[in-house]
Amino acid sequence: MRFAFFDAKSYDKPSFEKYGAEHGIEFKYFETKLNEDTAELAKGFDGVCVFVNDDLNANVIDKLYEYGIKAIALRCAGYNNVDVKHAYGKIHIFRVPAYSPYAVAEHTMAMLLTSIRRIHKAYIRTREFNFSLNGMTGFDLHGKTVGVIGTGKIGRIFIDICKGFCMKILAYDKFPAKDTDIEYTELDNLFAKSDIISLHCPLTEETYHIIDEKSISKMKKGVVILNTSRGALIDAEALLCGIKERRVGAACLDVYEEESDIFFEDFSGHIVEDDTLARLISMPNVLVTSHQAFLTEEALSNIAETTVKNISEFFSTGRCENELCYHCGRTDDCKKHRIESCF
Ligand code: NAI
Repeated sequence: MRFAFFDAKSYDKPSFEKYGAEHGIEFKYFETKLNEDTAELAKGFDGVCVFVNDDLNANVIDKLYEYGIKAIALRCAGYNNVDVKHAYGKIHIFRVPAYSPYAVAEHTMAMLLTSIRRIHKAYIRTREFNFSLNGMTGFDLHGKTVGVIGTGKIGRIFIDICKGFCMKILAYDKFPAKDTDIEYTELDNLFAKSDIISLHCPLTEETYHIIDEKSISKMKKGVVILNTSRGALIDAEALLCGIKERRVGAACLDVYEEESDIFFEDFSGHIVEDDTLARLISMPNVLVTSHQAFLTEEALSNIAETTVKNISEFFSTGRCENELCYHCGRTDDCKKHRIESCF
């Protein structure tokens, strides 16, 4: 089997080479992202392997189908960048539902601690032998209330980490878990009572800009907002206003709505055109990482192992446990539990 691997980075290759060789799958690595302009590169392959910022809209799906692509192997959990409805009946889609929820939850806490204890500033200061503590006052996490939106795999691990700091937990989930002692509340109450708000829900029509001007106006003054989920959960302009008005005390962002042409690339010698991002980064209380939360050795190995297993399982049996479609789990039309395949 031959797969066109888009948006390839040097850190992807070792694990994919290892697991691919074990299952007879050859990957051809393309540094470019998959979109309407680059879809033609997929000609002659059995499938494509894609990541979070490849754009698989309806036109791209049609092109891939025309080229005989049988499978889209997502090497990530989220699939908001794929028109899964349009792909239904044409191309099978697999994803990696979990590779290391610990990686993302731990990165979220790392960003929170870095931000509120000014570690990023201390690192720069002491390297220049500036040992002044002016402007470095932080606050204790102990006893603070953290509002967690989305209590799936990552949200729950983040809650456990926060419990280790003796923080109070408030949670909101559209589908609250029944097998936990998590205290669920309404979204407005979470906004009003939380000192820190962390987003761990998927990006859907409902969660798009869940943090906007209106929700920010309901939050405590000085709230710290954490987003390691998907950029478009936050209206970045509204966040900027909230920061300027001093309502938002700090923001830690591993994701950004317009990240697709910026994140993962080196722009250090260029002028970044995105004024909102540039303004956010210029704020002393905003910490940005470049969609890095997943990036641990364990996660990279698990991603490659599961992606290769998905491909191998599908091509040898016609089924894949991690196949997804727009019906999956949500409607009575979900065929997977009956025929073990989406279509
Ligand atoms: P998950 O599927 O285990 O949990 C998501 C939770 O969100 C579920 O409990 C679900 O019921 C809830 N949810 C769904 N719709 C909701 C709504 N409208 N409002 C509130 N909650 C809602 O997913 P997991 O593995 O915990 O991942 C969470 C998100 O983290 C992913 O959707 C993905 O976008 C992001 N992610 C980010 C990474 C990074 O490197 N920054 C890496 C991996 C995932």
